[in-house]
Amino acid sequence: MPASKRITAEAAGMKATTNQAAGIESSGVPNKKLTGKEKKLKRKEEVAKAKAREETVRQAYSRGSILAEFQPFRKFERNGLSITLEERRAEELTAVETQFVERLLESNMKKIYGDNWPSQAATRRQQMAEPDALYLFLHDSATSCDASSEDPSTTGSEDLVGFVHLRFVIEEDVPVLYVYELQLGDKVQRHGLGKFLMQLMELIARKSSMKGVMLTVQKRNKGALDFYLNRMKYIVDPISPSKSHPLAQPEDYDYEILSKIHDPETKQHLEERCKLAQAAWLSEGY
Ligand SMILES: CC(C)(COP(=O)(O)OP(=O)(O)OC[C@H]1O[C@@H](n2cnc3c(N)ncnc32)[C@H](O)[C@@H]1OP(=O)(O)O)[C@@H](O)C(=O)NCCC(=O)NCCS
Repeated sequence: MPASKRITAEAAGMKATTNQAAGIESSGVPNKKLTGKEKKLKRKEEVAKAKAREETVRQAYSRGSILAEFQPFRKFERNGLSITLEERRAEELTAVETQFVERLLESNMKKIYGDNWPSQAATRRQQMAEPDALYLFLHDSATSCDASSEDPSTTGSEDLVGFVHLRFVIEEDVPVLYVYELQLGDKVQRHGLGKFLMQLMELIARKSSMKGVMLTVQKRNKGALDFYLNRMKYIVDPISPSKSHPLAQPEDYDYEILSKIHDPETKQHLEERCKLAQAAWLSEGY
């Protein structure tokens, strides 16, 4: 959930002000004084770049089906599982799917968030319905035929075993595919399905001209951290507070922002953003 990382953007914003005053370029190198004309030109370039980024995201959403070009990924038939993927936009979510998402989130994440769970659940409920949200639902073919439930609140969702909530967003001026949620039910965890889905996310990101994949993980979620960092080779992104806030103590932040960026220029840009944020924290002295 990217909202929790706003602190780095704020810090970078603070630095922009401090830097402008000190005449320092984003790379940390002192600026030669720009003439009025040069400033105007630079501003124009920045506006054009911002528009291009927004257009990239708009195009990614306008591609229609996110699975259309990834037919082999519609099914996962390995390690004793037979799972079918189905995509949905937020406005298409049925009541059964909404309830399933809420229940699975609670069963997987309540223990991680502890006392903060009620406010987290409310935030997630709100995010779930936002128009930018895209979903992949995972159906277990083995239970879809013979499933019957005695509990009316779960009727119709017996074959649902997990979901992904993804979005195309601009983070720190970078268009990325942001994995808001990747949640698998107990029974289908540790069968290679998470890896399969993250590989799919990386392919969708490339095909949609995103610069990479980003996500937020709670530090207490050791299993997920192990999965992303060791199994999937994600890194703690330079814009994650543990990197960009030099005075932060481990207990100040309960999450990390992870990423896999495939574009070298973007990696460098994020490193620069990190330096900006670090300088901002130091100059503010907290
Ligand atoms: C984290 C999650 C997405 C991983 O998907 P998965 O299908 O279980 O993982 P895979 O089988 O593809 O890969 C597993 C490998 O990742 C690592 N891993 C995954 N889950 C782990 C866990 N809970 N503890 C330790 N290592 C873990 C291991 O190296 C594992 O290899 P192994 O099973 O051979 O030991 C899934 O377990 C899940 O939904 N967990 C609950 C919800 C959650 O925490 N989501 C992430 C929120 S950011």
